[in-house]
Amino acid sequence: MQNVKEILQNMTLEEKAAQLVQIPYAHVGREKAIEWAKRGAGSFLHVFGDDARELQKIAVESAAHIPLLFGIDAVHGHCLNRKATVFPTQLSMACSFNPLLVKRMAEAAAKEISADGLHQTFSPVLCLGRDIRWGRVDETFGEDSYLAGELGAAAVQGYQGEDNAADTSVIACAKHYIGYGEATGARDSYDTPITYRKVKDTFLPPFEKAVKAGLASIMTAYGSIDGTPCTSDKKLLKEILKEQLGFDGFVVTDWENVGHLIREQRVAANEKEASRLAIESGNDMMMSAPEFYEAIIELVRGGEVEEKLLDDAVERILNVKMRFGLFANSFKQADEKFLGCEEHLRLNKEIARESTVLLKNNGVLPLNGRKKILVVGPSADDIRCNYGDWTYFSHPLPNYDTKPERPYITFLEGVKELAKEYDCAAEYVKGAEINEAIAGGIATAAKAAEKADVILFACGDNIELAAEGRDRADMRLPEAQRELFGALCKAGKPIVTALICTKPLCAPEIDEGSAAVLTNFNGGMFGGLALAEVIFGAINPCGKLPVSFPYHVGQQPCYYNQLPGWHCRNYVDMPETPLYGFGHGLSYTKFAYSNLAFDEKTLTLRVKVKNTGVRAGKETVQVYFRDLVSSVLTPVKRLIAFRKVQLRAGESRELEFAFTRADFSFVNAREERVTEPGEFEIMVGGSSADGDLIKLNFIIED
Ligand code: GLC
Repeated sequence: MQNVKEILQNMTLEEKAAQLVQIPYAHVGREKAIEWAKRGAGSFLHVFGDDARELQKIAVESAAHIPLLFGIDAVHGHCLNRKATVFPTQLSMACSFNPLLVKRMAEAAAKEISADGLHQTFSPVLCLGRDIRWGRVDETFGEDSYLAGELGAAAVQGYQGEDNAADTSVIACAKHYIGYGEATGARDSYDTPITYRKVKDTFLPPFEKAVKAGLASIMTAYGSIDGTPCTSDKKLLKEILKEQLGFDGFVVTDWENVGHLIREQRVAANEKEASRLAIESGNDMMMSAPEFYEAIIELVRGGEVEEKLLDDAVERILNVKMRFGLFANSFKQADEKFLGCEEHLRLNKEIARESTVLLKNNGVLPLNGRKKILVVGPSADDIRCNYGDWTYFSHPLPNYDTKPERPYITFLEGVKELAKEYDCAAEYVKGAEINEAIAGGIATAAKAAEKADVILFACGDNIELAAEGRDRADMRLPEAQRELFGALCKAGKPIVTALICTKPLCAPEIDEGSAAVLTNFNGGMFGGLALAEVIFGAINPCGKLPVSFPYHVGQQPCYYNQLPGWHCRNYVDMPETPLYGFGHGLSYTKFAYSNLAFDEKTLTLRVKVKNTGVRAGKETVQVYFRDLVSSVLTPVKRLIAFRKVQLRAGESRELEFAFTRADFSFVNAREERVTEPGEFEIMVGGSSADGDLIKLNFIIED
């Protein structure tokens, strides 16, 4: 078989230009798609099964004989296929603080993606969800750079496998590069007013870990960094990503990014200018930009763009196709038996259970002895509330359906299943819709509440209120649900609230009026079951929050790793701390931390954790640090390690964490990553809250 250089040498200018476009099948339709396959297009997105196989046959029989690459948005499972496993969203999975579970999810998803004859998933999302007003926080691993990097690298390893050419391995595409969620006002695709220093210090580390894990593709974000679109930022794409990080895969733009340079961001006057900017800045594959093909040929023919730029891009794409075995077997695909298989469903339940966070509990949970249960709320019996975005009935495929496909278990179904086991009776009154009242709904719910021993209130948002292009300014629970909750509080019965939501909502009244609160955000097919299992005590919750819940949207951003310097450090009208903070999550047992020690020579930390309760449980031990004096402002605390331990009642465990100087580094004013000698503080505990941490200081010598 020819090698990449030989293939490249034999390609015409037209074939090189075609190799750089990724065509949206659902938008151009089958006939046009066939034309593009004949022309030698490099890639398609949002096509699968027989339609994809038909295009591949045409491509390998075309003049250049270069196999197509098929990309898909399989962000938490191959959810655009209704037969596939719908895992919890990334934000939900992040609550598990379990990289191995994320890796196993990605391995399973890769098999289901490949079973459809596809090769690339536009996942993992490595943006940080630091402002909950942004519509896409649910797609992130939360607000912290270290956690996002650990989970993102695990996802890359899971998708791409040990053997990239194996039928069960797919190309990961980390996105969106970079700083997408940090835009002013958390507005989708808006300008992110940060410096390259901030990019390197806070937003680049997750991508760095993904590249070190062998990442094969990266997606350029829609937005701009301090006025320069990511798509036309040579420093971001070439200098930082390709030269400094040594990224050797290919860069694909986000949807119509080339056209956005003209129409939205207005840094290019026409398609030729936009195409030149895109290729010169370091984009290799242009998603949904068919106009790029003619424009780039004209630019090369006119001597305005060097053909070498196309060669570099084509070479990167062909190297990835070669590495993932597409030349050796252009029709590589995993067995269709993997789609929604029993093993993946079991894994799905395991992840949902580990991702369930108990936020508040005044002792009402686990439910025991309370016989008459009333379930109320719009999120209890609609599985779409548990699925989040990028599934077969959300978007982007125009033929999505609204009838969810079994198997799945809604929260109500889970409660009824457990109620039988625990000899309880469970009744359901919806009471309101997600975003509007039901005539008589509140009165019916209030009446039913009079006869109940305990009320389970299932509330939240849905993807009409979150997702791409759906940012919010008012982050409260929708009014209809707030009114319903107010009426339930008047019944004077204990209320357990299950927040089934895409991302944190500002709901202090829910915390105030509930005896217990729990969530797993969009927990997937079995998220509702996991919530019910925690409520009945069938499982001991161990999830921890990867993102902060503010009291009020005005507190945004209230992520835990704040910088010092806020004068008076509080608002005059509310606390400066979040309602529930990063790393927070309760258990049905208790854990105590002691014997904290730090060896300054070896930079090794030791700590003892004990389960002081009466029930076995899992604890995520979190390690934070602070650089007490630094040449630029650095956060009051930063996560530097975490480890999940399972302890029997009364069991203790000595944990050891080995660090390097680089772990205590930051990016200075000269954009260099440095560890400055001096005094540091290290903090260990079960959440980022000061009250949950034991601390000591240490010195790093020059
Ligand atoms: C979308 C999203 C991106 C997705 C791509 C392809 O607009 O921004 O995350 O992968 O287009 O669907």
